[in-house]
Amino acid sequence: FHTIEEAIHDLKTGKPVIVVDDENRENEGDLVALSEKATPDVINFMITHAKGLVCTSIKPDLAQKLKLPLMSNDSSDPFETAFTVSIDHRETATGISTEDRSKTIRALTQPDTEAADFKRPGHVFPLIAKDGGVLERPGHTEASADLAALCGAFPSGFICEIIKDDGTMARVPDLQEMAETFDLKLITIADLITYRKQHEMHV
Ligand code: 5RP
Ligand code: CA
Ligand code: ZN
Repeated sequence: FHTIEEAIHDLKTGKPVIVVDDENRENEGDLVALSEKATPDVINFMITHAKGLVCTSIKPDLAQKLKLPLMSNDSSDPFETAFTVSIDHRETATGISTEDRSKTIRALTQPDTEAADFKRPGHVFPLIAKDGGVLERPGHTEASADLAALCGAFPSGFICEIIKDDGTMARVPDLQEMAETFDLKLITIADLITYRKQHEMHV
C-alpha cells in the first residue's frame, strides 16, 4: 500500500486514488477524488474503469444548509451509508453526463451555494460524512471527506466503487493491479485512521 502522504500529493493535483476499507467491513475499493477539483475526465475515468455508483461526501452542516434529507429514515443498510436525496445542479441538462455530474459536484463546494441551486431527485448521490470522520465511522464516505480536509481543500470528495470486468467486486489483489495499470496510489482506511491519530496528537 502507498502512504497517506503519497495519496494527498496526488489528490491535490486532481488525480483520483484508490481507497480500500477493512476486509471485515465491505472489503471494497473506491476511487476517490476531491470534489472541488471534479472534472468530466475524472468522472469519465470512474464510470469507465470503476463502474460503481458516483457519490459525493458532504459534512452534516452542508446537508443542513442545502436542505438535503436522508433518502431513507429507517435505514436497513448494515453499514448505514447516509444517502440523502439525489441532486443535479439547476444548470444541467440530463444531469448524468460527465459534464453535468462534475458541475453538480463542484457546485457543492462553492461558498455561496444554496438549496435552490439544485434540482432533486438527480443523478449525483450525496452521502453525509460523520463529523468525526474515519475516527467515528471507517467508511469511504468519511475517508473521502477526511482526505479532502487533509489536502486543505473543501471537505468533500466524490467516490465510485470498483467493479471488475466480470461484474464482481474488485478485491485487494485486483486493486493492486489497477493501481499499477493506471499509476494510481492505493491506500487503506486503516492507515488513514492511524495517520489522523498520529497527526492530531501533535496539534
Ligand atoms: C455508495 C456506497 C459505497 O459503499 C461507498 O463506498 C460509500 O459507503 P461507505 O461510507 O459505507 O463505505 O454504498 O455507493
Ligand atoms: Ca456501502
Ligand atoms: Zn464503501
